[in-house]
Amino acid sequence: MSIKIIGTGSALPQKTVTNYDLMELVDTSDEWIKERTGIGSRHISTGETLVSLTAEACGKALENAGREAAEVELLLVATCSPERGIPCAACQVQSAIGAKQAVAFDLNAACAGFLFALNTAYAYVESGIYKNALVAGGEVLSKIVDWTDRGTCILFGDGAGAVYVEKSDNGGVLGFVQHSDGTRGDVLKCDSRALKNPYVDQPMETEYVQMDGREVFAFAVRQVPASILEVLSKTGNSVEDIDLFVLHQANKRIIEGIAKRLSINLDRFPVNLDRVGNMSSAAIPVLLDELNRAGRLKAGMKLVLSGFGAGLTYGACVMEW
Ligand code: ACO
Repeated sequence: MSIKIIGTGSALPQKTVTNYDLMELVDTSDEWIKERTGIGSRHISTGETLVSLTAEACGKALENAGREAAEVELLLVATCSPERGIPCAACQVQSAIGAKQAVAFDLNAACAGFLFALNTAYAYVESGIYKNALVAGGEVLSKIVDWTDRGTCILFGDGAGAVYVEKSDNGGVLGFVQHSDGTRGDVLKCDSRALKNPYVDQPMETEYVQMDGREVFAFAVRQVPASILEVLSKTGNSVEDIDLFVLHQANKRIIEGIAKRLSINLDRFPVNLDRVGNMSSAAIPVLLDELNRAGRLKAGMKLVLSGFGAGLTYGACVMEW
């Protein structure tokens, strides 16, 4: 018994911001950004919210699955850029799409968030607690990025993706691995609120995303291949059995480094970061939706999904489409 993705959906803000647009904001170049990251443009919110984008992605996933919002029993939103501390984004999405009976809550594991949420849905649905789940990853990272910092503002984009899953006797998720290393949290961080009350007024350390890019790069290229090999071994698969490796879209050089370490041809690593940048927890479900709608995911294909990011958090899953 497992869970299977029955439908996918995604939503991006209307505005596209190219590397040339960023050259008007910071001292950078299209050549530098493309060479170091592979990113050419990204979508940036000019009014769309995490909730509006995620609700749109969820609606499309349900439509793609041929299911109604009222049938959804569990609604998980992975995000690290919510508009509100309370209520959680998932409850706001529940209200927006009319998923009246769904139990809804958020989960934050940064760029591994969608994968961790999918695993959470797996645990609930496989155990029989709920019959189905909507699992979304959504971000409006543009509001936590320092637009004067050329080291980070060139990397990120806004967007949301979602999948609808049900219990399955045939294929679906074959196995997961997840890891967290909180001792290395300082390499990528952003405070959300200052401690301020009648007794103390403590300023925030990092109002915007701060990153040690080299450390993040080294972590990803070392740990991600190890976790992919771990999940392949756990599920009795080898790299040759996998048709597509759907990785978190952080940057092109990280994906190339991972492919090289695994000795796998890059053409098995689909990429959309050139058009959308790094959308953290939205990256994997948006890419999955694009592949699904382009007809690139055929029944019986084996996929590896792999997310990694701040925390540090990382994990991988093997699934049969
Ligand atoms: N344009 C032009 N020059 C720049 C830019 C820019 N946008 N940003 C930095 N530079 C300069 C630096 O100031 C530095 O100049 P200096 O030598 O005069 O001091 C030079 O370029 C090299 O800077 P580094 O930070 O060492 O550049 P690096 O080669 O490490 O590339 C990058 C930076 C692209 C961020 C790289 O470290 C990386 O890919 N890291 C992975 C981080 C990542 O993808 N994070 C995403 C979020 S986490 C996640 O999703 C997993």
